[in-house]
Amino acid sequence: MTQQRQEKYRQYYQVPDYTITDIELDFVLDPATTIVTAISRVKRLNSQANVLILDGKNLILHTIHIDDKPWTAYREEAGKLIIESVPDTFVLKVVNEINPLKNTVLEGLYVSADVLCTQCEAEGFRHITYYLDRPDVLARFTTCIIADKSSYPYLLSNGNQIDKGETNDGRHWVKWQDHFPKPSYLFALIAGDFDVLYDNYVSQSGRNVTLALFVDKGNLDRADWAMVSLKNAMRWDETRFGYEYDLDIYMIVAVDCFNMGAMENKGLNIFNAKYVLAKTETATDKDYLNIKAVIGHEYFHNWTGNRITCRDWFQLSLKEGLTVFRDQEFSSDLGSRSVNRIENVSLMRAHQFAEDASPMAHPIRPEKVIEMNNFYTLTVYEKGAEVIRMLHTLLGEEQFQAGMKLYTARHDGSAATCDDFVQAMQDASNIDLTLFRRWYSQLGTPLVTVRDEYLAEKQQYLLHISQITAPTSDQAEKLPLHIPLDIELYDTQGNVIPLQHSGRAVHSVLNVVKVEQTFVFDQVNSPPIPSLLREFSAPVKLDYSYTDEQLALLMQYASNDFARWDAAQSLLSIYIKENVVRQQQREDLILPQHIIDAFKSVLLDEACDPALKAQLFTLPSENEVAEWVAIIDAIAIHNVINFIIQKFANEMAA
Ligand code: BES
Ligand code: ZN
Repeated sequence: MTQQRQEKYRQYYQVPDYTITDIELDFVLDPATTIVTAISRVKRLNSQANVLILDGKNLILHTIHIDDKPWTAYREEAGKLIIESVPDTFVLKVVNEINPLKNTVLEGLYVSADVLCTQCEAEGFRHITYYLDRPDVLARFTTCIIADKSSYPYLLSNGNQIDKGETNDGRHWVKWQDHFPKPSYLFALIAGDFDVLYDNYVSQSGRNVTLALFVDKGNLDRADWAMVSLKNAMRWDETRFGYEYDLDIYMIVAVDCFNMGAMENKGLNIFNAKYVLAKTETATDKDYLNIKAVIGHEYFHNWTGNRITCRDWFQLSLKEGLTVFRDQEFSSDLGSRSVNRIENVSLMRAHQFAEDASPMAHPIRPEKVIEMNNFYTLTVYEKGAEVIRMLHTLLGEEQFQAGMKLYTARHDGSAATCDDFVQAMQDASNIDLTLFRRWYSQLGTPLVTVRDEYLAEKQQYLLHISQITAPTSDQAEKLPLHIPLDIELYDTQGNVIPLQHSGRAVHSVLNVVKVEQTFVFDQVNSPPIPSLLREFSAPVKLDYSYTDEQLALLMQYASNDFARWDAAQSLLSIYIKENVVRQQQREDLILPQHIIDAFKSVLLDEACDPALKAQLFTLPSENEVAEWVAIIDAIAIHNVINFIIQKFANEMAA
């Protein structure tokens, strides 16, 4: 059946007419012909409604019963099953057939090597059975799986295992129960043969959790790091966020054929094997860090995504932006905070800024969607995480955690919106976030321009700050945003000048909320060097006319490692831009001696962390440089970057 590709709009959200509170799923597994029986407890929510419309794709319908009676008042239409004249509350039994072997879209139940495996986010469950396949329908799932015992010794699904048995024809069955209500996108099923790494974890309150990591036969020697990472993630989430695991077992399965990196199905995470397996002989440090981050990310979804899920897919950043923020913090608390920050900001500048300036640009909470799968973007994920980080910067850790607690208390076990999240942050902190909410609806990267003025006679320093976001076809008029701008001032010796105004200390995070604003600092004895947008305190582009000397000083003396790196990048950017023009005009490329000397002194600074040094000497990517120029001359950019690398290599070798 062909299907209309229809746009859906956020503003037209409607609560569902019906909900499903409990579902019993029964799978008779076979790669070519799997029979699915779904017994759902259905409840009417809208008294005006009397037809139940279920989603379903590529399904062969066998039978429908309502309250045990065969039901014929239904029709199938463009991806929907429309059941008429249904009562207020009833038990719906649907039997249908699917073909996992022929399922090549990798949504629903499919075959990966010898494994039967599911992927249901965002709208894959409708490839398994007819259902209300939307995230605001939360049901308790019980799943019984029957399959051939020799081909599929492991039969897994969400929740705790409650029963199992054997039939006398070589098959066996396992029954799982997940008592946490969840949307269908978090359903998972795995059948196959694996090697298993078992461990256990005792949670804060004393729950003994079995940990099981399922890998392809022969891969156990590469499973340890994922298990270590999982236990670290569980401990970290308890200590930093107060979130504890809630089932008796936590399973991770590594499969080769997986579109994405990994998926947070309740109690049964499914991973692309490359984010699970590593051994020192073949994996790089980066591989190890990635595994830690992805294992953490999916684990952290247990609260931010699963216990509290999204009302509709427009709210995707509610779980993804927040969970990326959480996995970034996990990596930073357990590793190098500055290196993590530098890498995340590089990704933002090189790729998210480009997306935000492209025809694909969309707000972190999109307004309209045709195909949901196209919205798992850097904007929703990475810019979404930056928006959460700005809240953290504005509130501070303590109030941010108070906001998280309030959000959890209000919405645990339900489907929430981005607005709900910001509201909890506002209510817990008493900070007015009205303006801040624009980050959710306005697309594009703001440009923050800073001009300064030193008044020697008053010993005053002024920062004139303006912000502008370029208009786009769907948002002609852009509004000013609430931008937390973290700053510091230095004297020419590299000492910090305390921020004060009218006899009072001023917080280093300035609240930029208007199109134009001036901040005044007193008791500044000499023209200072400003360190601006420390820690990349907002996802904006910054324009301030630094001199080479100022940047060299910040690179050497800034108290914040990120600020040092950022100064190095700015210094390099000056000469990259200049050299791109020179290259185009066929002039010689240049890198002045004072730049080389500044970098050399960092290299020789024994107090500087070697990992930071490595970052300071990493040139901006060609993608990022492309963001700085009106017309992208890829060859010139490439040659200039190579020239600087060569120059550094030659000069530093001496
Ligand atoms: N929920 C997603 C996986 C997903 C994305 C499923 C899109 C279906 C469609 C998961 O939590 C996720 O975000 N995974 C990331 C890795 C993570 C470390 C950012 C991925 O798969 O790339
Ligand atoms: Zn995620």
